[in-house]
Amino acid sequence: MANQGKWWQKAVFYQIYPRSFYDSTNTGIGDLRGIINKLDYLEELGIDGIWFSPFFPSPQEDCGYDITDFGSINPEYGTMKDFDELLKKSHKKGIKVILDIILNHTSAQHPWFLESKKNRTNEKKDWYVWKDGRGKDGKKPPNNWNAMIGGPAWEWCEERKQFYLHQFLTFQPDLNWRNPDVQIAMFNYIRFWLDKGVDGFRLDIIHTLFEDKHFKNNPLSWRFFPSHNSNEVLFHKPKYTQYLPETIEVCLKLRELVNSYSPDRLLVGEAAGNPQMIKQLYGRNNDGLHLSFNFKFAGQPFSATKFRRAIEETEEVLSEPYWPCYVFSNHDSNRLISRHKEDKKKAKLLAILLLTLRGTPFIYYGEEIGMQQVKVHKDKQLDPISKLKIWGIPLGSIYARDGCRTPMQWDDSPINAGFSKNPKIVPWLPIGQNENINVKNELSDEKSMLIFFKKLLKVRKQYEPLQIGQLNVSEDSNSDLLIYDRTFQEQHLTILLNFSSKIQSITATNMKSKQVFSTKLFEEQKEISEEITLEHFEGIIVEQMK
Ligand code: NOJ
Repeated sequence: MANQGKWWQKAVFYQIYPRSFYDSTNTGIGDLRGIINKLDYLEELGIDGIWFSPFFPSPQEDCGYDITDFGSINPEYGTMKDFDELLKKSHKKGIKVILDIILNHTSAQHPWFLESKKNRTNEKKDWYVWKDGRGKDGKKPPNNWNAMIGGPAWEWCEERKQFYLHQFLTFQPDLNWRNPDVQIAMFNYIRFWLDKGVDGFRLDIIHTLFEDKHFKNNPLSWRFFPSHNSNEVLFHKPKYTQYLPETIEVCLKLRELVNSYSPDRLLVGEAAGNPQMIKQLYGRNNDGLHLSFNFKFAGQPFSATKFRRAIEETEEVLSEPYWPCYVFSNHDSNRLISRHKEDKKKAKLLAILLLTLRGTPFIYYGEEIGMQQVKVHKDKQLDPISKLKIWGIPLGSIYARDGCRTPMQWDDSPINAGFSKNPKIVPWLPIGQNENINVKNELSDEKSMLIFFKKLLKVRKQYEPLQIGQLNVSEDSNSDLLIYDRTFQEQHLTILLNFSSKIQSITATNMKSKQVFSTKLFEEQKEISEEITLEHFEGIIVEQMK
């Protein structure tokens, strides 16, 4: 029987970075009540689910990805009552809510770590990955493991006279998943949020949960630069620190846990690597995570051939019953439109691609208005990665993530772009300087990116093949064009994307077809005769009629 589609297969998710969405309390920082105030906007936009970046208590050394309590709300953002209201109101609008859960590590200020680091005999002594050092004084790291962002994954702790492991930054110690008490504690937090009614989780760097129990050295790699095709970086192959079988086991257990809830809940993995690698998280029998972000796709240059290959690879690796998950931008990567020289036509074409593939798409807040990367002056950068030195070289500034995390641009107010209720409040990060790119302006402009997104989302909702249909990529007869079909039951749609700056003409194979959407004319629906003409960087969706 044809796949009728689960809610999370049909859904379009929208990522909210709570600190930057809307400040209802005039603190310069976004908050939960601010998001409640903007739920109508999200409903009208036409998204189906929200992924919230972490809003748990945190010293904010890594903007909330360093947590001190997994079971409550950072007072900066509001209260649990606010969250309950947000959840209830989202659900009332038919919007699902997924939270960001960080199972791999806590903040170094988490009470568990503060206890664990005191000595080698305390109650939490084995809650983190501790290891004696090497060398005469024991102050050489236990092995060659690198942190994901470079440098040793080990940090010396004077109190215990031991090293602790951190696969990310030094203030994010890795939990010891080999300790059953850790597993119980973290699973209980998951239950806590599921019992509240959340619809699932995005699982932060889930591929790094376990490390080799014998602490074997990782092999060397010839790769220096990070790549979306691999998890090797800085001459390091993380064979003993990523994708361990024990990690996959936990994915299966998590699935079992969410399966015990009704209605069904969703697990989305965040992991480095190509489709083959991330597939492991789905489980051999598709009984692990439901989805895992496909970052290889996101990293493609603007080329029909490159995208075709990335889609074909994904379709092959994650064929039914597996379900891909596509995303172009998030809080860790430069804004999509800026990666393409602020070209709105290209951004629109890519939006059609994102929203018409077989897989669950995620949109990053502001993507729908074409928000651009903001140049944040060095003195104002808050991302710890911007300050990172790798082998003494300040490489971090290349990867600084502040510019994609700036406040949502609601209107053209000069100080905070309508982000705070009070237009005089200076926000936590500077705003983008393009006063035309904001919700208020774009709502009144029929040709704007926002109206384009709204209409595209509507078309996706209207046509089931775009949500759950089978996908067929056409032969590569013209390297400037990417053409694929989506079919569900009797309905058949063709997506044609012109990646070139030249006009392209295609002879329609079907006598009767109707253009239902285009990057240029997102209003009209016109019958197509024999020839389809695509202007430069134009993308269209065509319905094949009987
Ligand atoms: C991935 C998150 O997306 C990123 O923002 C964070 O810094 C690291 N994981 C560590 O939690």
